[in-house]
Amino acid sequence: MSGESRFSAYDRIAGAGAPRSTVLLALEKFEAERRAPGLAIDLGCGIGRDTLPLLERGWRVVALDQRAEALATLAERAAPASSGLLLWAQRIEEARLPPADFVIASFSLFLVPPERFSKVWAGIRSALKPGGRLALQLLGPRDEWAGRTGITVHRAEEVDALLAGLEVEWRQEEESVAVTPRGVGKRWHLWHLVARSA
Ligand SMILES: C[S@@+](CC[C@H](N)C(=O)[O-])C[C@H]1O[C@@H](n2cnc3c(N)ncnc32)[C@H](O)[C@@H]1O
Repeated sequence: MSGESRFSAYDRIAGAGAPRSTVLLALEKFEAERRAPGLAIDLGCGIGRDTLPLLERGWRVVALDQRAEALATLAERAAPASSGLLLWAQRIEEARLPPADFVIASFSLFLVPPERFSKVWAGIRSALKPGGRLALQLLGPRDEWAGRTGITVHRAEEVDALLAGLEVEWRQEEESVAVTPRGVGKRWHLWHLVARSA
């Protein structure tokens, strides 16, 4: 299935939803610390559900997605507040990330294939500046997509290892059944994560 057909229903139905709770929590924490808005990277940004609120708050955002058409929609949605927006049309696995205050990967990082994940994670960890934050979702092994080609899942102890050395501010395991934007019931096993670099 092409990236286009797979995610176009997502864009239409869920892509313009409210920012993720993980992202909002991280923003609250930055604001409580009075840390000025800096550079954020939104990996697999789609049409900008999380990018837009960051731009509105004065962040500069590297918005990265493999689909140029999603980035074009994001650019339209961001105007005229788009001066801090940098669009990167590429795969997460190929990106060389700049030093960042905030790295977001909402419902995207589990789409990095297992054999590429470690390198991608190392790149994210090394991009994160001191005091910077990560906000993301990962999939757990009881997710219905576990075992599909190209999908990466993490057991609890593997999540521990990924987060080693970070201050974990939110870690929530969710197991639920919900209808996907493509109208199909799906069993989800999710990790919702917010963590801060020392
Ligand atoms: C489920 S959508 C999530 C979009 C957005 N982060 C949100 O929460 O609304 C996943 C997005 O990741 C993008 N994506 C999937 N795999 C990717 C990859 N390997 N590299 C770059 N983008 C990818 C898709 O094009 C899609 O826009």
